[in-house]
Amino acid sequence: MKTVKIGLLGLGTVGGGTVTILQNTLTEIQRRLGQSIEISIIAVRDLNRPRSVDTNGIQLTDQPMDVVNHPDVDIVVELMGGTGLAKTLLETAIQNGKHVVTANKALIAEFGNELFTLAQKHNVVIAYEAAVAGGIPVIKALREGMAANRIEWVAGIINGTGNYILTEMKKPGADFAQVLKVAQELGYAEADPTFDVEGIDAAHKLTILASIAFGIELQFNKVYTEGISKISADDIRFAEKLGYEIKHLGLARRTEEGFSLRVHPTMVPKSVLIANVFGVMNAVMAYGNHVGPTMYYGPGAGAGPTASAVVADIIDVIRAVNQPQAERLPALGFQLDQLQQAPVVGIEAIESAYYLRCFAKDHAGVLAKVTKVFGDHHISIEHLIQEPCASNREDATLVMITNVVKESDMNRALAALQAMDEIDGDIMRIRVDSLGA
Ligand code: NAP
Ligand code: HSE
Repeated sequence: MKTVKIGLLGLGTVGGGTVTILQNTLTEIQRRLGQSIEISIIAVRDLNRPRSVDTNGIQLTDQPMDVVNHPDVDIVVELMGGTGLAKTLLETAIQNGKHVVTANKALIAEFGNELFTLAQKHNVVIAYEAAVAGGIPVIKALREGMAANRIEWVAGIINGTGNYILTEMKKPGADFAQVLKVAQELGYAEADPTFDVEGIDAAHKLTILASIAFGIELQFNKVYTEGISKISADDIRFAEKLGYEIKHLGLARRTEEGFSLRVHPTMVPKSVLIANVFGVMNAVMAYGNHVGPTMYYGPGAGAGPTASAVVADIIDVIRAVNQPQAERLPALGFQLDQLQQAPVVGIEAIESAYYLRCFAKDHAGVLAKVTKVFGDHHISIEHLIQEPCASNREDATLVMITNVVKESDMNRALAALQAMDEIDGDIMRIRVDSLGA
């Protein structure tokens, strides 16, 4: 039987991991497949950079077009990143009749609708398991394992760097910039780490999860996105005191008005399983109308876990190649012509409980004024902590957890509170969610 020839775009963290797996575990993989695989060519940016993997017998090039135009390459594996050159390369590969495997969530989330249509036209497969939650086979679980269900919601810790940072920040004296630097050294972070810290990477992944869960088109530009850079050591300490963990969650939910797609820090009660996912580990919960709540857990970034998903995709693609297109798994799990263009509701329409932290003048009657503002907006305070403020002796730190209210009502209450002379600085707000528990 013919040897399947792979062309790699990129030999960094994930590319290096992919080469290592295809060298170290080749016999096992070929036993599963009944076919032999070989990496023929790899494109890198800098041919002189020392490589930690053995590239003996593999052609290296700094001309990535040579990979996608190579007559012998059957599958192009894109592990470069970015949405400019990477998109052009994949379009060329597809037009050349080559199947594609990619770990590039930005590319799938932002241009997946057109790339999947192009792939269908040219009768090739695009596989992207590594694009979401690293080594967790969550695309497979949702697209295939949950296919009998109408999925109601998905919630996940889907950025390994962010979860690593939030975990390390629990340690006394931890420094945000230093922790991020370690995450970069471990190969977890994106080329531009603000994608991790500000939630853009998680929004890319949530876009993909929502499409697979609900059978809707990819709509990255509709995802409400908030990062973790404003979370302070005080917030982490108060969360601990109140029995919560702060997690950077991606949440996709069906509502009566449309779909809610959002990424933001969320306080989750410690008693909920996903609150106990730490370090680079990711977890995705999906609620199906028949199966109920499910959760998938594993390492969300790094060479070995991500390359594990890449190689599993290569195996899947080789198996799919011999099937007629109509019998292949659709890219988003629903037939492309059955995807809905459903409305996405704005963040002001969601309902949530809230953690609020602010500095207020430590004078008689101030607390009564604060609680009156909430009363006037029909918001009740379920927990309240008042502490002397360490940095300003005139102020007290107020921390509150409210009942579940509409975000638009909370916005009005916060505007009234912020306008009070007795409130100093910005009010910190973190949404609180017990995820159905
Ligand atoms: P990386 O370590 O920065 O590697 C990128 C590779 O692409 C490098 O080998 C680089 O070449 C090559 N490259 C970049 N621009 C090129 C160009 N114009 N021509 C030829 N080669 C070029 O990145 P990574 O962490 O492996 O991530 C790759 C992709 O996987 C990204 O889409 C990322 O979002 C995704 N991903 C990463 C992880 C993770 O944990 N790191 C997990 C899941 C998904 P040089 O080596 O010569 O610089
Ligand atoms: N930068 C990403 C993360 C890589 O930290 O989750 C995995 O997609």
